[in-house]
Amino acid sequence: MNRATVAPAPEAGAAISDDALWKGAAAVLDANWERDHTVPSRTLYPHHWNWDAGFIAVGLAHHDPARAWADLHSLFSAQWIDGRVPHIVFDPDVSERDYFPGPAFWDSAAMPGRLAGLTTGIVQPPVHALAVVEMWRRSPDEVELRWLYERLAHQQRYLLERRNVGGAGLASIVHPWESGLDNSPSWDAVLGAIPVDLEMMRKYRRRDNRVANSDHRPTDADYARYIAIAANYRDGGYLDAGLIDRHLFLVECPGFNAILGAAEHALAELAEVVGADPAPHRERASKITRALVDTLYADGSFRSRDVRTGELSPALCVNGLIPLVLPDLPADVVDSLVATATSERFGIGPLPVPSYDRTAPDFDRLRYWRGPIWINVNWLLWRGLRTHGRAQEAAVLRESMLSLVRRGGYHEYFDPVTGDGIGSAAFSWTAALTMDLLTGG
Ligand code: SER
Repeated sequence: MNRATVAPAPEAGAAISDDALWKGAAAVLDANWERDHTVPSRTLYPHHWNWDAGFIAVGLAHHDPARAWADLHSLFSAQWIDGRVPHIVFDPDVSERDYFPGPAFWDSAAMPGRLAGLTTGIVQPPVHALAVVEMWRRSPDEVELRWLYERLAHQQRYLLERRNVGGAGLASIVHPWESGLDNSPSWDAVLGAIPVDLEMMRKYRRRDNRVANSDHRPTDADYARYIAIAANYRDGGYLDAGLIDRHLFLVECPGFNAILGAAEHALAELAEVVGADPAPHRERASKITRALVDTLYADGSFRSRDVRTGELSPALCVNGLIPLVLPDLPADVVDSLVATATSERFGIGPLPVPSYDRTAPDFDRLRYWRGPIWINVNWLLWRGLRTHGRAQEAAVLRESMLSLVRRGGYHEYFDPVTGDGIGSAAFSWTAALTMDLLTGG
């Protein structure tokens, strides 16, 4: 397991005080600050990541608000002309060798839709509007808010219009990396139809499994598919027209779309501040909620949908619970999500919710999004529980997240059986969201 040396984990044991936990989190964020952005981890992820930046800004809003505004400003400076916000903005000072696949693979410099910076051409869940509401609440900056509001709205338009591949009013993701949940079982059925060319992987050299334990990372077969899907999208100029006829990975993810809907609710609040009309944001939000319930809800949880076949995934994954963040979710749906989240499959209790159904035969407690516990999705569920007045479950979930971090440090993810930390040991969003949890949100 990789252990970063830049920011030490807090001393082990439940005795660590809230003050020490806060200071440790601040040290991680300070150590991971780079010029105009925060890196998720010095070792594994040395560039600027899209949805990480949103979660990180929530913590920076408490710790150093000027840096929160600067971090999102720099991410949105790389927004493409069509409104997409790239999932990675590459730091030109980091060597191509230090991350795979880097700027040479994505070749965005050759793309006419790009505006500035070297970036990937895919997106990630648009959590940033949620962060901006928190930043505005704690440390308003009107100039930055106005600048960001336009760009956040542009991002929503891109996702709701150009990515409405299935026609139901939901955004499709074109790559597992766009979900943020790379190797989640949610995509197994879709990926199963895409051939694995391990030979092709010999051309490339992965870096992630050299700086982290390879049993905790996606497999080479996963990477062979990731590269093939990304290359196909890149070779089509990152254009979205006609994807249904030429792209094999087109999925409606309930987590991605719930965040898209929550972002419209957040933008309605921000619209009031900047003097724009909040009504269209509210209308779009309620359409997304309706489309999610009509299209992706089955048997007490939300599932991802293969847009090409119309099939719902049988896998019960944490993204299926994220629609709880939607304030306009019907009460009976809220009840069943809470029942699923507290059942033996996910079991909010001494430990937070794992990334995959604990009772599934292929539940893998160590491998990235196929079992381990991640703080960012649990933080979203915590917000959702509070939105729906589930104070008791929310309090249990908050305490279970804090005790994981108290025991193990600001890890990237955690073993859902022992609670041990896995992945990067100084992970920015874990530190940032710990700060938000400590203040009670
Ligand atoms: N999560 C991916 C990685 O492991 C990319 O977003 O690098």
